[in-house]
Amino acid sequence: MQKTPHPKSTPTSPHPLPLTHLFISLLTPLSSSDPTFVSPKIKKPFTQTPPPTMSTKLLLTLILISYTLSNVIGEETGFVGTLHPKSLGLHKKQTLSHFKFYWHDIVSSGANSTSATIIPPLPKYNTTTSFGMVNVMDNPLTLGPELGSKLVGRAEGFYALTSQSQINLLMVMNFALFEGKYNGSTITIVGRNAVSENEKDIPVVGGSGVFKFAKGYAHAKTYFFDPKTGDATTEYNIYVLHYE
Ligand SMILES: *[C@@H]1O[C@H](CO)[C@@H](O)[C@H](O)[C@H]1NC(C)=O
Ligand SMILES: *[C@@H]1O[C@H](CO)[C@@H](O)[C@H](O)[C@H]1NC(C)=O
Ligand SMILES: *[C@@H]1O[C@H](CO)[C@@H](O)[C@H](O)[C@H]1NC(C)=O
Repeated sequence: MQKTPHPKSTPTSPHPLPLTHLFISLLTPLSSSDPTFVSPKIKKPFTQTPPPTMSTKLLLTLILISYTLSNVIGEETGFVGTLHPKSLGLHKKQTLSHFKFYWHDIVSSGANSTSATIIPPLPKYNTTTSFGMVNVMDNPLTLGPELGSKLVGRAEGFYALTSQSQINLLMVMNFALFEGKYNGSTITIVGRNAVSENEKDIPVVGGSGVFKFAKGYAHAKTYFFDPKTGDATTEYNIYVLHYE
């Protein structure tokens, strides 16, 4: 390994730096390699013409300070403002929560169905992939795999069949949860669900209530699927980072 010599300490330098200055300039991140920047001269009023290398850094620092100040104080039009992240609780430690429940897509029970086709597959396309079909759902989320087990939330949303060569869904769902401090909060997922794959990940794109600013993903795993009726039960494991 070759050591890169400090530029000012090369033997060709006309005024080699004393070791103490080198030490200070290495320890002080703000200081320039020009030792005058950390020397007491800096405390004198600005009316004194600073050395050229210093003025560039000073100018950049001043621009940075005024930019920061204008962001904090300015923008009083009401249209847009900049907030400190603390004001919305974003200084709090993020929590990584794991939710597990079962999602029931019931399409074959007539008036008792929880999921209904609102746009049928487009006949002019290859209908084996149901391209163009859209289902709207209000599906129960239960603690266990049985439909009769404890209801912990509902999945409101829709899925659209979006591939002409495979049975792939675009899932758009709000998981509205009912339990404890999560009651009334929602987790929103949007993403691709390839039916041919037994397990898939769908992005958590946000949420409401305790899930404001949430991110993460939902791992969906087929628990039951009846190809004749289209009814399905899916195990969802949601991994979500949130602040409350
Ligand atoms: C809907 O549910 C009710 C009550 O469980 C039941 O009596 C009825 O037969 C169901 N209807 C269909 C079409 O499954
Ligand atoms: C329709 O889709 C199926 C399934 O992907 C495929 O096997 C078939 O060749 C497609 N037919 C046409 C006409 O593209
Ligand atoms: C959730 O909140 C609703 C509305 O505030 C309330 O009616 C319901 O009892 C709550 N459910 C649970 C399980 O706490």
